[in-house]
Amino acid sequence: MRKFNTTGPCFPDEHYMLPALDRLPGVRELVAGGDYFVVHAPRQTGKTTALKALVRETNGKGDMFAIYCSLESLQGATDLNDAMSKLRKLLLQSARIIPAFDATPEDLCAALALDNGPGWTVSAVSETLSALCRKAEKPVVVFFDEADCLVGDVLISFLRQLRVGYINRKTIHVVGL
Ligand SMILES: Nc1ncnc2c1ncn2[C@@H]1O[C@H](COP(=O)(O)OP(=O)(O)OP(=O)(O)O)[C@@H](O)[C@H]1O
Ligand SMILES: [Mg+2]
Repeated sequence: MRKFNTTGPCFPDEHYMLPALDRLPGVRELVAGGDYFVVHAPRQTGKTTALKALVRETNGKGDMFAIYCSLESLQGATDLNDAMSKLRKLLLQSARIIPAFDATPEDLCAALALDNGPGWTVSAVSETLSALCRKAEKPVVVFFDEADCLVGDVLISFLRQLRVGYINRKTIHVVGL
């Protein structure tokens, strides 16, 4: 294994690394304060590495649940219905890091009473996040990576739903990247 990693995110147990969170000064305070934030930087500058370090650190501390969700597979998706379906599935898959949610997306959907009733596509993200937060025993922080893969109506709907969730938040901290 090459310890000098130049192919994708670095992991402390595999690679030589600089302290990843030093690259996001003030981010712990934003998370603790329930704020949302956006990280933008050129390609291959360590965004994913830093976010994954934040997830590890947050889950290691134990006072919150942190979820990492990459939106990369939705690159350029334009069908709103289909994209929201995939987004919900991605979120539920990503939530498996929380022991209480370690189930298939289908089982989790049923357990969280998420249905596909009228108009569900316009609330797929906010409803899924709300349901996860209601069931989790701690505040939940979500890190969306590769958010710039979303385009057009799918991007607008995603951002709108995060905004709704943020305005009505009780126990969730949403972070978009
Ligand atoms: N903390 C670190 N210490 C040492 N090298 C690092 C660190 N973080 C990132 N790198 C270097 O940067 C490369 C890219 O890291 P990473 O995939 O996290 O960046 P990124 O900004 O998410 O990239 P992309 O824009 O492609 O998503 C790594 O392969 C590694 O060479
Ligand atoms: Mg990345």
